[in-house]
Amino acid sequence: MHEGQRVLILDFGSQYTQVIARRVRELGVYCEVVAFHIALEAVKAERPIGLVLSGGPRSVFEEGSLQPDAGLLNLGIPVLGVCYGMQWMASALGGRVVRSERREYGPAEFSGDAACTLFAGLPRPQPIWMSHGDRVEDPPPGFAPAGFTPGTPLAAMADETRKLYGIQFHPEVSHTREGKSILKRFLYEACGAAGDWTMASFIEEAVQSARRRVGKERVLCAISGGVDSAVTALLLHKALGEGLDLLFVDHGLLRKGESKSVEDLFAQHFRIPLKRVDAAGRFFSALEGLQDPEDKRKAIGRMFVEVFEEEARKLGNIRFLAQGTIYPDRIESAATSGAASVIKSHHNVGGLPERMAMKVIEPIRDLFKDEVREAGRRLGLSEAFVRRHPFPGPGLAVRVIGEVRPEAVAILQEADAIFLEEIRAAGLYDDIAQAFAVLLPVRTVGVMGDGRTYDRVVALRAVTTDDFMTGDWYRFTPEFLAHASARIVNEVRGVNRVVYDITSKPPATIEWE
Ligand code: XMP
Repeated sequence: MHEGQRVLILDFGSQYTQVIARRVRELGVYCEVVAFHIALEAVKAERPIGLVLSGGPRSVFEEGSLQPDAGLLNLGIPVLGVCYGMQWMASALGGRVVRSERREYGPAEFSGDAACTLFAGLPRPQPIWMSHGDRVEDPPPGFAPAGFTPGTPLAAMADETRKLYGIQFHPEVSHTREGKSILKRFLYEACGAAGDWTMASFIEEAVQSARRRVGKERVLCAISGGVDSAVTALLLHKALGEGLDLLFVDHGLLRKGESKSVEDLFAQHFRIPLKRVDAAGRFFSALEGLQDPEDKRKAIGRMFVEVFEEEARKLGNIRFLAQGTIYPDRIESAATSGAASVIKSHHNVGGLPERMAMKVIEPIRDLFKDEVREAGRRLGLSEAFVRRHPFPGPGLAVRVIGEVRPEAVAILQEADAIFLEEIRAAGLYDDIAQAFAVLLPVRTVGVMGDGRTYDRVVALRAVTTDDFMTGDWYRFTPEFLAHASARIVNEVRGVNRVVYDITSKPPATIEWE
């Protein structure tokens, strides 16, 4: 855990809350997202240098509107209320909030008061992004208006004495051109941030903290081939050296050639001893007859536990199990406001630890994905490795739709490898967040040469997304799709048809299962 300064972001349910957190971290200040109803004592215990109240879809006029402890505004630390956060602050401190006749949504021109800490030195007017129904009509006692747009006379308010600020627009989105400067001014001018959150300091702290926690015990770390577990392993290796046992459970559900490249990376490139367990046969047996995606995930989870436990027993006195859980995994799984429903059970969080006799250590649990990549670079991973698309823990088992059989996985591996090869060759890999092939459980009729075929269908999926919570399908050129499709049907036996998935998330998810 970061021991330096921190800011807490109270989540009122805005889709942008995580974006605020990422911006604050990018500005060199550690922050965490907490539920809006966090207890006052819990906030005090964290000793934050400032609070940000996020926006949210609710209205202060609604029954059961989200009401945090008003004592938050009396802690003597700076508070920035964004959108709903501003409206709540205004209503809690005796200002007047009114319903707007019309919602203001989209771009606007904001003129901030040059005397306000948040806006000093920034252009006036400046483009900002609005999204609100209610607005503050009269600021609370002690506050002065601090900025306006043509449609919103009170688009910002400030009490410079108590260092309480409210802005009606979203500083975290890129449409608010100076949004980052505004956040920076809040953090550095109002909260007195020192900018002590850097990757170098994170790595140093994570190493020290792992040493303190683990002492002379041994840690078992499983790697999957993904960035998160690789960074976890490298950090722990730096901290513990030979106290770390690295385990690679090959479940036979990785991409083509991946199993060997994982071994090469650790054993040859980093010279960290790695134990590879070939458990493909056992995983396939466990998956036999299973059709339902969640049943497949559970079977894989159980098998992982079984293999881990066996290996841990063989190694003897292992007391800790390392996991590559990252911050968004925790936010998504726990949904800070408790509002989101669980769509898919992600294997990194939950499941494993409760059943195991070992304590869990998660050295990168506080990092966003970009930060994990940055840590990876600093720990010696190549640019190509850190930029890899994410790959789900259950691997190709959720990309062979329906029952998973070894022959099907082999077909999928070939098709997937061609698709990715073409994406790389076209220089598109970094433009796409995730790309893969899916094998469908249907056969369709085709004609090849002079003969009729009755073979499988491969679906291709490629998405763009910032956060994997929402996403859009990638617009390939027709020529690219034609070429990839021709190669797959010509080179992969058992496939005679290729389709491209043109559904966004929502309503679809990124994976097909
Ligand atoms: P969905 O399909 O939910 O995917 O839109 C969002 C992101 O999560 C990944 N994903 C998983 N990762 N275990 C994982 O470790 C899983 O069971 C799992 N299911 C989906 C998916 O690849 C995408 O990056």
